[in-house]
Amino acid sequence: MWIPLTLFTIFWCFVNARPTNEWKSNRFSSHEISMIQRNDSLPRLNIGLIVPYTNFGAREYTKAINKAVANLHKASRGLRKYKFLEHYQFTQHHIRNVMMELTPSPTAILNSLCKEFLTVNVSAILYLMNYEQYGRSTASAQYFLQLAGYLGIPVIAWNADNSGLERRASQSSLQLQLAPSLEHQTAAMLSILERYKWHQFSVVTSQIAGHDDFIQAVRERISDMQDTFKFTILNAVLVTKPMDLLELVKSESRVMLLYATREEAIHILTAARDLKITGENYVWVVTQSVIENLQTPNQFPVGMLGVHFDTSSTSLVNEIATAIKVYAYAVEDFVNDPNNVNHSLNTALSCEGLGESRWNTGDRFFRYLKNVSVEGDHGKPHIEFTQDGVLKAAELKIMNLRPGVSKQLVWEERNNWTILKKKFGEFK
Ligand SMILES: *[C@@H]1O[C@H](CO)[C@@H](O)[C@H](O)[C@H]1NC(C)=O
Ligand SMILES: *[C@@H]1O[C@H](CO)[C@@H](O)[C@H](O)[C@H]1NC(C)=O
Ligand SMILES: *[C@@H]1O[C@H](CO)[C@@H](O)[C@H](O)[C@H]1NC(C)=O
Ligand SMILES: *[C@@H]1O[C@H](CO)[C@@H](O)[C@H](O)[C@H]1NC(C)=O
Ligand SMILES: *[C@@H]1O[C@H](CO)[C@@H](O)[C@H](O)[C@H]1NC(C)=O
Repeated sequence: MWIPLTLFTIFWCFVNARPTNEWKSNRFSSHEISMIQRNDSLPRLNIGLIVPYTNFGAREYTKAINKAVANLHKASRGLRKYKFLEHYQFTQHHIRNVMMELTPSPTAILNSLCKEFLTVNVSAILYLMNYEQYGRSTASAQYFLQLAGYLGIPVIAWNADNSGLERRASQSSLQLQLAPSLEHQTAAMLSILERYKWHQFSVVTSQIAGHDDFIQAVRERISDMQDTFKFTILNAVLVTKPMDLLELVKSESRVMLLYATREEAIHILTAARDLKITGENYVWVVTQSVIENLQTPNQFPVGMLGVHFDTSSTSLVNEIATAIKVYAYAVEDFVNDPNNVNHSLNTALSCEGLGESRWNTGDRFFRYLKNVSVEGDHGKPHIEFTQDGVLKAAELKIMNLRPGVSKQLVWEERNNWTILKKKFGEFK
């Protein structure tokens, strides 16, 4: 299902950002790679890439980078020409790859920016993280994105837990988000309700990062849809203790939208079961933060619905190519625009107060990034962004929790709506 959008308080643990040296030792045996020509007399284009730390998966990152860059060069000899490759050096050596642990310390984040990235004049940073902690890891991401914004360096991000990131209120944010946003998720949840003609519902959240934004996004979506479908929010419950759910017992609410972490959802749904607001006559519709990687705690009620996107390492690795393509399209448009002849994509920033402290061309370059239209694979919509830097359309799966073969509950993708309609059709 494609969901279109018409649309420093930081706490820490410790770890370090470790540069991967893998690409230095890689042989680039693939013949595609060997065809990339370097012309050392041309200026260089550099970008930074931040990916989750892995002991064994670093080769996958390297392979994805090499393949994506090789494809750009191959395309340049084919139909789609990247003219910028005639004016700049851009090979796999120009992508500075840093692996970052779950909750890097502010020092580690600063080091990766100053030592790894600014020294090579990165004109953009690709920030891809599939951690789903909605709190601690989100705080690191927030800090990183704020720093990058402060430096004027555009970020092309794919954050699994971006729903916990502060909405892009700050002017300095030069960020594109490739993962489905909280707005996409609420739009999908409300479209499930619309499908079954459930007009009334309650919103339940924990204190998860972004819980206010969730309620706000639901309200905004309702108001966008008011000409086609009327919704009523019966209750909006912030759960800090089990008894907070009593409000739902007293109300007429049969349909609940839940935004919480999976751990919190276990407690909330256990309490809900004790209060008899799960089961046949109730529907809980949950966000990706509850579903996470599709493991199903047995406290979750059968029949639960949810919206989901793939946050596996494989899916993260695939996003490397997408992010590089978005960057390449923007550079191409930027370089071909005669208005930019006097603007270089060489950042020349420094954390030591020597160079500039903010990249002036960053805002200008970001306008081109936000304006790209990259063809989607296999009939998927083009990758395009709203003014806020979120995807215009994102793919989400509608999942349904059902008993599997061994009585263990499993999340099943639900494209067939008729089964559910039968079960819950009586709701008004
Ligand atoms: C390298 O770039 C320079 C400057 O644009 C150009 O004159 C030269 O022909 C290029 N060399 C190769 C081998 O492409
Ligand atoms: C970064 O930019 C500075 C200033 O233009 C330049 O001296 C330096 O060689 C560049 N470094 C790299 C790695 O491109
Ligand atoms: C670029 O700089 C040159 C020299 O300063 C100037 O003559 C020209 O008008 C500038 N071009 C643009 C598009 O700003
Ligand atoms: C944005 O993209 C459209 C279509 O490709 C193009 O016509 C327009 O000039 C672009 N705008 C900017 C600011 O690059
Ligand atoms: C959907 O489920 C119904 C009831 O089980 C079945 O009759 C129908 O063939 C299914 N449709 C598809 C497209 O799977």
